[in-house]
Amino acid sequence: MTSYKEADLKELITPGASPRHIAIIMDGNGRWAKQRSLPRFAGHKAGVEAVRRAVGACGDHGVKVLTLFAFSSENWKRPPTEVSLLMELFFTVLKHEVKKLNRNNVRLRIVGGREAFSERLQARIAEAEELTRNNTGLTVVVAANYGGRWDIAQAARKIAAKVQRGEVAPGDITEDLLRIHTELGDLPEPDLFIRTGGEQRISNFLLWHLAYTELYFTETLWPDFDAAQLGIAIDSFGRRQRRFGRTGEQAETVAGA
Ligand code: FPP
Repeated sequence: MTSYKEADLKELITPGASPRHIAIIMDGNGRWAKQRSLPRFAGHKAGVEAVRRAVGACGDHGVKVLTLFAFSSENWKRPPTEVSLLMELFFTVLKHEVKKLNRNNVRLRIVGGREAFSERLQARIAEAEELTRNNTGLTVVVAANYGGRWDIAQAARKIAAKVQRGEVAPGDITEDLLRIHTELGDLPEPDLFIRTGGEQRISNFLLWHLAYTELYFTETLWPDFDAAQLGIAIDSFGRRQRRFGRTGEQAETVAGA
């Protein structure tokens, strides 16, 4: 059983439908910088420009949720200077962009183990989420110190605590219960996953949530990813037949119903 409701299926399966939720692994910043003989950090700064473009373009396409993998739980293994420059960049971006996002009715949400960040950055994250929490336009989810396995484990811990308190019986642990305890459990699952930079892997991103997501890989390095590239990815998505375990004929019947 998937966590999709039958009633949603027609909308999800209809060819040409726009993705409601796009999830992106923004890869290739370092190579982009290297090609220009610039320090890696210049690639991350250029990556912020690409984030701005993606947010605007998703709004134009009527996308409801955009999830961006900004920093994985494995990225702490990078050289300390790159890690601290990235932290500083997140802080600066939150400081400078959040008012504009708020004016554009964007809701910002950060998912991942935020206790690993400095108190200053945690406070900035909390402020940004608080300021934008009632916005009704695009939801931008930034995954930072996030790992798909970590997410499943933290959901399991929350449920185990409920079992221990007698609030949940072990037999009541369903896929749906697990889903709602994951970090993105209240959002529609990603329809389209994009990875830039040429690698074709999931890299411990949204392991639970990508079960039925359409995957799109491009050689384009993240700082070069623009509205036109996003349009190409969305067009590719629109040409796919989503089946959710059904036969092609059944999917056509649901879509045409
Ligand atoms: C992967 O490229 C990119 C990252 C680990 C960092 C992503 C961060 C940003 C785009 C900037 C900030 C974003 C937000 C949402 C505030 P890489 O360094 O692995 O590139 P490479 O594979 O070419 O070395």
